[in-house]
Amino acid sequence: MSKKIYLYGNWKMNNTYSETEKFFEEFEGAYAPFKGDANLEVGIFAPFTSLWPLSQGAKKNGIVFGAQNVYYEPKGAFTGEISIPMLKEYDVTHIILGHSERRHIFGESDELIAKKVKAVLDAGIIPVFCYGETLEERETGNTFTVMERQVRAAIDGLTPAEVKKVIYAYEPVWAIGTGKTATPDQAEEVCGWSRKLIGQPEAVILYGGSVKGSNAKELLSMKDIDGALVGGASLKPGSFLEIYGAYKG
Ligand code: 13P
Repeated sequence: MSKKIYLYGNWKMNNTYSETEKFFEEFEGAYAPFKGDANLEVGIFAPFTSLWPLSQGAKKNGIVFGAQNVYYEPKGAFTGEISIPMLKEYDVTHIILGHSERRHIFGESDELIAKKVKAVLDAGIIPVFCYGETLEERETGNTFTVMERQVRAAIDGLTPAEVKKVIYAYEPVWAIGTGKTATPDQAEEVCGWSRKLIGQPEAVILYGGSVKGSNAKELLSMKDIDGALVGGASLKPGSFLEIYGAYKG
């Protein structure tokens, strides 16, 4: 039996409200060949302001959807932040947390991300937890030390059942938006290592970093890679779904 593939798109700060509506006008046709495939789960993560058209398009097409960040407090004096109850009203099913752009551009710490992971789980939403090393960390031989710190910080306070609910996304920082993909062996090495660290053989572990149609088959065929978290190639339905098409061959 072939494995289930998770194809998740992280739009980052792209696709306005009207662009999201347009995306879904084209999405239906591109998704048609794969719709109903029990071995495929498609998800899209949009900016907050595009969540309404995303929710409409996602529900119509039967895909999962969510936001790219959230604050852990339910309400209060936190200017500029968005709470979990606010997102729940849009019926989001998943939320990306700890993306390297949040860590490196906005200075999010392991401790802050851990609080968000716990709060999201408590609300019955699935966190898509991202982690990964920088080029400097890899080149100085610190890949596994850094990732162990990042992953442990997020899961140490969780129950085994919660640890299992989290979706993990290994995204080497040097491969994000650079066109430089980790080789299938490099990605597999980390995803396999992660599965052992997490201690849940059935944990869902995605790879992210310049995934596109031309490299999808090799990456997604690896034993410990359950899917892809896609940035650039997820912005258009054609290039996004082509990733699963390429895997299926
Ligand atoms: P790219 O696919 O554009 O490299 O982005 C990967 C990513 O950061 C997804 O979260």
